[in-house]
Amino acid sequence: MLMKAITLVVAIRLAVIALVIAIVIIIVIASTSYYFSHKKPVTHLVEFTAPFVFGRFIVPEDNPLTKESVELGRRLFYDPILSSNNQVSCATCHKQALAFTDGLKTSIGVSGTPLSFNAMSLVNLMWGPKHFFWDGRSPSLEDQALHPIEHIDEMARDIDQLVVELNKDKTYKKLFKQAYGSVTAQGIVKALANFQRTLISANSRYDQYLRGEITLSPQEEQGRKLFMAHPDTKVTLRGGNCIDCHSQFLTSGFATAFDGFSNNGLDNDQALQAGLFTLTNNEAHRGLFKAPTLRNIAVTAPYMHDGRFATLEQVLAHYNGGIKRSKTLSPLIIEADNIPKTQNDHISLNLNEQEIVAIIAFLHTLTDEEFLANSAFANPFLEQSLERNLEKSRHD
Ligand code: HEC
Ligand code: HEC
Repeated sequence: MLMKAITLVVAIRLAVIALVIAIVIIIVIASTSYYFSHKKPVTHLVEFTAPFVFGRFIVPEDNPLTKESVELGRRLFYDPILSSNNQVSCATCHKQALAFTDGLKTSIGVSGTPLSFNAMSLVNLMWGPKHFFWDGRSPSLEDQALHPIEHIDEMARDIDQLVVELNKDKTYKKLFKQAYGSVTAQGIVKALANFQRTLISANSRYDQYLRGEITLSPQEEQGRKLFMAHPDTKVTLRGGNCIDCHSQFLTSGFATAFDGFSNNGLDNDQALQAGLFTLTNNEAHRGLFKAPTLRNIAVTAPYMHDGRFATLEQVLAHYNGGIKRSKTLSPLIIEADNIPKTQNDHISLNLNEQEIVAIIAFLHTLTDEEFLANSAFANPFLEQSLERNLEKSRHD
């Protein structure tokens, strides 16, 4: 009897202990899974609007546009910690007031040795081809971002070393945790890509004209027509031929294949540079470069992949009479002439001075002042030090 009672008490005790353990396990499992599922309270960006004329855009599935990633990307973009000497940031070569170019013939980074290329404007990058750089050698913005960081002349920063450095910084640790969980090389390039995706420009005078909000001046209107027309001497249609290659001139180039790459007659065969050949190894692609966006073109001098032209006047002089023959020169350029062609004619558009001035006036309507001054794209460190100073002056 006594034995039975003892075993019953033991059994009850054991049952209670088992129950408590089970409850504890359930609570632990439930709370960790809650923690993991809520570790990244990211805010998806759905708020930005883009003109339908730009067409569809695609964001990589594994890098959704979130407020947290964009904020982190903006900070990284402006932070010289990305370079080995802590002096060069992405913004050193991509300045907002210059539509994210640097005003130099070819850019200069940590080594002081000028690069081979002119800095490209960063705008409406969600719409361009998936071929970044003048020669198209990078397939995504995520991939692209790693190039300048590790390039010996640009930022010369070992990416793994950068991860270690950023991990020492409280603010970065917090921002990375919110955006991507932890500080990783992947997170760095993803955040940079996402910030750049938000650099949308859609309010130049030409955009306003497309929306029917303003009219262009007679000179700008003449320039617009010339820009859009392929000349045809049979019907006396005068044209500048520009749209043949710059058809996506509001965004960042063509969306499909290699359509946006051509040889616009900068060099003869001897001087022809590799260009798209670098990527494809196809001889027919030697000397072909990306026809970049012409948006904000009035503020992105000097021009062409090597910055050889200082002004738009020089660019137009090139198209009007400076074309050099080579085996990959675009047939669209050879063909385009505003007076009937004779055999072996010097390649020229034969536009008159007034027409050239009109095309340049039209190119100026592509400047988007709002974009160039948009505070959402500006240096966040300046903003923070302004806030700190304001705070300080309130306390003083
Ligand atoms: C030292 C100057 C320099 C620095 C620093 C620099 N860039 Fe660039 N950027 C350039 C130049 C020059 C090109 C064109 C290079 C080429 O075609 O090979 C370019 C091209 C690009 C392009 C391609 C645009 C297109 O339409 O194809 C992107 C995107 C870009 N840079 C983003 C960045 C980011 C992000 C950083 C910082 C991680 C950065 N750059 C740092 C000079 C620089
Ligand atoms: C056959 C195609 C073609 C035609 C036609 C053409 N372009 Fe271009 N354009 C290009 C290419 C390709 C580039 C880049 C070339 C390079 O840097 O090697 C370019 C570059 C430019 C640039 C410099 C862009 C920059 O960011 O440095 C300007 C400005 C320009 N073109 C304006 C025009 C105008 C205006 C016309 C008409 C008069 C015109 N283009 C006709 C293909 C063309």
